[in-house]
Amino acid sequence: MPQKKFYITTSIAYANAAPHVGHVYEEFIADVIARYKRNNGFDVFFLTGTDEHGTKISRTAESKKQSVQSFVDENAETFRKFYDSMDSSYSSFIRTSDKEAHWPGAKALWEKLSASGDIYKSKYTGLYCVGCEAYVTEKDLVDGKCPHHGVAPEKIEEENYFFKLSKYADAVKAKIESNEIHIIPETRKNEILSLFTEGISDVSFSRPEGQIPWGIPVPGDPSQIMYVWCDALANYISALGYGREDSSLFDTYWPADVHVIGKDILRFHALLWPAMLLSAGLALPREILVHGFITSEGKKMSKSIGNVVDPKEYVEKHGKEALRSFFARDISPFEDSDFTDAKFLESYNANLANGIGNLVSRVLKMTGQYFEGKVVMNQDVEVLLKRKIETVSGVEDTPGVPLNYYINEEILPAYHEHMEKYELTKATDTIWTLIKRLDGYITDYEPYKLVKIDKAKTEAILVNLLYGISVITNMLSPFLPETSEKIKSLLGGQFEENGTPISFSTKELETPLFPRK
Ligand code: MSP
Repeated sequence: MPQKKFYITTSIAYANAAPHVGHVYEEFIADVIARYKRNNGFDVFFLTGTDEHGTKISRTAESKKQSVQSFVDENAETFRKFYDSMDSSYSSFIRTSDKEAHWPGAKALWEKLSASGDIYKSKYTGLYCVGCEAYVTEKDLVDGKCPHHGVAPEKIEEENYFFKLSKYADAVKAKIESNEIHIIPETRKNEILSLFTEGISDVSFSRPEGQIPWGIPVPGDPSQIMYVWCDALANYISALGYGREDSSLFDTYWPADVHVIGKDILRFHALLWPAMLLSAGLALPREILVHGFITSEGKKMSKSIGNVVDPKEYVEKHGKEALRSFFARDISPFEDSDFTDAKFLESYNANLANGIGNLVSRVLKMTGQYFEGKVVMNQDVEVLLKRKIETVSGVEDTPGVPLNYYINEEILPAYHEHMEKYELTKATDTIWTLIKRLDGYITDYEPYKLVKIDKAKTEAILVNLLYGISVITNMLSPFLPETSEKIKSLLGGQFEENGTPISFSTKELETPLFPRK
């Protein structure tokens, strides 16, 4: 049977500074989902990249007295390196200033919209917020200023090309209502649906070259430059070869199975992008996963408040797995969440040092000390152990390998259900529930005492613990890929095809996996 494909994207961050913790969190979510799907046999294409056009970028480069190209080259490289340093498993990194990889697709898409009769020239008189890279109206403002950037928008009066967004409003609304485009969570779906009640106008899709020289020229009219969002959204297909000679990736992977985005760019992804795709006669994305914002000390991060969280500092000081673990355990995939140093350290100590790190260290130590690292499954003792284990796991008397029942009937189904719904913090709750159970198992059986009385029983207990840990490494692998691999190599497990353990050949830890902080 051919492998089922799965196409996942992040939004493309503006390449006008180093990565922000919000960008890094978004990359993390997409990476976890991509890894999970790969583990489950999907042929995954995971796209990320940088958005390199627009007024904001060209002005920032100018203020630094740098050529825009070298400015975005530097920043894009910083992004790519950071994503690599946190083990993002992206398949491709798209840059919108890439004339070979991106421009042909963006232009081909424009030509499609134009051929559908959906691009027309008209005069635009209105407001533009450079910070948002968006056309805004008086009602979007607070005291005449953009509420996100605290700056008054610029007044614009110029001849532009427009896209007939209004023509597709009803169709897009129906696709969202029916979940043909599934917006997750539901609250964001409702938010976008309420937008339609205000009425949808056409959108200016280009600006005169004299106003924004940095961008993609409109096909057939180089005196106009494409609006940055029209150009940027096209990345999801240009990166797959749309509009290029070899479009085999596009044929294989489009439509996107899920676009991962932040709540501030929902309107562009749930309204404008589907309308463009409908106009071009292309398939629509299946899901849009909308994450919340990371705040710092309860406030929006801002340089002037001085509360900006630098993800690089955390990786340098505590390691990439510590940052990934904090995201996995403490940042909600759907709501706003707060990032503080105290929360980070508390989470590190509870989940890593005292949680997984301590459990693995204890079990490996006992296996090394009592059995020189070699233990095998002993069927007789397994039956003997059953009653007590069932007390530990709290399940009814059911035949089966000790711990197997609890893991297969309770823990794993809950884990997969949450993963399929992108409820990442809940999915990791099931992992740490299992860690606690295994800690409790040690407390109940006291293998360190039992070893003096009944060695065979002690061996069976350790096999069960090692088996439990091996399940944990599988569940953890999308979240903490490096830790998962490290523990797997220390366990040296041998399993039957159905996953039942046969034996373990363990190595002891030389240093703690996660020293307490
Ligand atoms: N370039 C556009 C996206 C184009 S996609 C075709 C853009 N870039 S951005 O750099 O401003 O934001 C990139 C992503 O980071 C967005 O999904 C945004 O929501 C996310 N975040 C930016 N700040 C954030 C937080 N403080 N917290 C979480 N994510 C946030 O928009």
